[in-house]
Amino acid sequence: MLSVPHSLLSLSVLCLVGATLVASSWFLLPRLLQSPTAQILLLLLSVPGLWMWRVLARPLELLRSPEDVGYIPERGRTRAQTANQVRRRRRKGELPPVYPNGWYRVLDSNMVPPGTVNNCTALGEQLAVFRTQEGKVNVVDAYCPHLGANLAVGGQVVGDCIECPFHGWQFRGHDGKCTRIPYAEKVPDFAKIKSWTSCELNGTVYVWYHCDGIEPTWTIPEQEEITKKEWVYHGRTEHYVNAHIEEIPENAADIAHLDFLHQPGIVSGVDLRYTKSKTWDFVKHIWKVQWRPEPAPNKHCSELLLEHSIRIFGKHFSLIDVNVVARQVGPGIVFLFFKHAFLGSGVIVQCVTPMEPLLQQVSHSIYYQKNIPSIVPKFILRAECTQFERDVMIWNNKKYISKPLLVKEDAGIQKHRRWYSQFYSENSPQMTFQEEGLDW
Ligand code: FES
Ligand SMILES: [Fe+2]
Repeated sequence: MLSVPHSLLSLSVLCLVGATLVASSWFLLPRLLQSPTAQILLLLLSVPGLWMWRVLARPLELLRSPEDVGYIPERGRTRAQTANQVRRRRRKGELPPVYPNGWYRVLDSNMVPPGTVNNCTALGEQLAVFRTQEGKVNVVDAYCPHLGANLAVGGQVVGDCIECPFHGWQFRGHDGKCTRIPYAEKVPDFAKIKSWTSCELNGTVYVWYHCDGIEPTWTIPEQEEITKKEWVYHGRTEHYVNAHIEEIPENAADIAHLDFLHQPGIVSGVDLRYTKSKTWDFVKHIWKVQWRPEPAPNKHCSELLLEHSIRIFGKHFSLIDVNVVARQVGPGIVFLFFKHAFLGSGVIVQCVTPMEPLLQQVSHSIYYQKNIPSIVPKFILRAECTQFERDVMIWNNKKYISKPLLVKEDAGIQKHRRWYSQFYSENSPQMTFQEEGLDW
């Protein structure tokens, strides 16, 4: 360690060198910039520099279209045609009810600024999500009961109401009551639309769905690190999965598929025809997992404990080991908590929302410790996206099997099905074949 006089001396020298550098740059820079060559050089260097800075600093947003991922292209057909063919010819199997009871994401908070309205599809319905100037978010049915105009397409936010773009009827957000008909003397009591029970937290707007109209029996946990901005947003992915909603969370309890589907390194890509190729065989993901339902009062939650490591040429690099706890809350929300010895911690919030009986919108948003360079969470999100897209290729093409042929080691799958069945009730809607969605 330096003695006090030495450190003072070093500090003085450093200050002197620093001051000289600053002074000379102030003095030299204007002169240097008078030279056209220096100006061109500076311009040439600043363009890629700025671009790099923007790429590194801005959040990673990977938004896939329904036909983008999970299909093997067929000769002479576009990707959309291939996807539609696969959807048409696939055997559906004996499906569980299609819309489980629970909370679902409708959109992210930043998609609905104050005084605006946004249209979204969830649970087979068209919804209008609007935010008052005071900041309160409301979710109502999108179709006006008067003559059916879509309130989210041209509708205006007026106070705590949404005004229909067709004849100007106004509906109050919190209870759906019609408060004004511009050309009528009296507003009838029965004039109202459905207002959905909603909440906004973790940067997301959620709605509650129950087939019997029962009010929420549990709440979504607030992730305090997000609210307090200790963990900040670094990006989001969006996918469409052509399968029954239960297939997606069931993946957590299907332990055997991890060491098969997800073992090849992410460099092997997402096309399952090639992920086992010998070229990238030297990188392998190793998973140690345990899935378990939580006891009362959190029966609606389950937990997947996951230890992940990487082997390169058979060698284990313990420095990049990462532990993940994936906590499923209800039928459509999962918090994937990451904790690493020196790369910090954060969460990916996965939200699965059924748009149609066999079409799920899946969003992954990553929030990460703010003092960690954004390249770390963006890499995690990208890696997670790659592994997820391998599952998408399976889900988009598979049939749901209600009585699967299982071995002892698959016991977690039946356990998961029993756990998930709590989200269905007698009147939960079943798939009918006319309900197949439109072509893409
Ligand atoms: S359709 Fe909405 S006011 Fe007429
Ligand atoms: Fe998987």
